[in-house]
Amino acid sequence: MDVTGRPIVITGGGTGIGAATARACAAAGMPVFLAGRREAPLVQTRDDILAGGGRAEVLQTDVTDTAHALQLLEAATNAFGPPWAVFSNAGRGLDRPAHRTTDEEMRSIFEVNFFASQALLGEAARRMVEDGAGGHLLACASCVSKFAPPYHGAYAATKAAQDLYCQAMRLELAPAGIHVSTVHPITTTTDFFDVSADVSGRSGGRSGIDHTPRLFRQSAERVAAAVLRCLRRPVAEVWTSRVVRLTAALRTLRPSIVDRQMRGMLDHRRLRGDDRSEADPD
Ligand SMILES: NC(=O)c1ccc[n+]([C@@H]2O[C@H](COP(=O)([O-])OP(=O)(O)OC[C@H]3O[C@@H](n4cnc5c(N)ncnc54)[C@H](OP(=O)(O)O)[C@@H]3O)[C@@H](O)[C@H]2O)c1
Repeated sequence: MDVTGRPIVITGGGTGIGAATARACAAAGMPVFLAGRREAPLVQTRDDILAGGGRAEVLQTDVTDTAHALQLLEAATNAFGPPWAVFSNAGRGLDRPAHRTTDEEMRSIFEVNFFASQALLGEAARRMVEDGAGGHLLACASCVSKFAPPYHGAYAATKAAQDLYCQAMRLELAPAGIHVSTVHPITTTTDFFDVSADVSGRSGGRSGIDHTPRLFRQSAERVAAAVLRCLRRPVAEVWTSRVVRLTAALRTLRPSIVDRQMRGMLDHRRLRGDDRSEADPD
């Protein structure tokens, strides 16, 4: 599919996977509308795109505000016309043992990763159905939407919820010519792990990237290229690692094998003095 001139909205578009995807989409000729809370990274990404001859606009917004979906889609429509694609990418992690996750932390991470995403994709879907012109909705889930690593249970739960919600949407919206895709990155070298550590009260602690073998780390640009391929040629799920995708399939067939692999991650943390299973969260 030729994506030239087809507008896309990207939340969390100022940094990491969102910014890399914005640059890739703009280079492919798509007008990009970026959203996030901090002005500086949004403006930086927009200015890079404009300097490269692309089209970009930004809106500073917190996706957990109940009005955000309407405001964002209205602003994007005013800038470039009705969005043809919406990439719900804003999200964050939480590095915390499941039994140490407080009720407040759990609700807070679901607000960003699930409820905000569901509100945006739901509103975008209603508009696309009404317009009758089709479109493409994408959610940045994670490989951990299919299996939970230690200390990331709350995060994995939000991504599994997002994944399942999108699975149903995909079936329901196909007759209207609307594609729905989930993106399942593996460990990606962005600010994500520093944010997870900060939110967990572990600022200054080891980055989660340290605990991931090099083979399972990738760049945001690699994810962005896969997202762009999916926009051109829609698929249900975007994966950037065959090995991890196989692990996800194995998790259903033989959970004990994947549990053994995951326990290896725990051992690695213990060896590096970063076992927080009984640490005081604060
Ligand atoms: N990095 C990984 O290893 C990895 C792996 C799998 C999936 N993912 C997913 O990929 C997505 C992007 O993460 P990333 O790796 O690119 O990390 P990142 O650079 O930290 O990006 C997260 C983005 O979300 C925005 N954001 C967070 N909370 C927001 C809120 N309440 N309202 C508006 N925007 C908000 C942030 O901007 P502001 O702070 O300015 O608002 C930031 O631009 C996330 O959904 C994450 O779960 C990441």
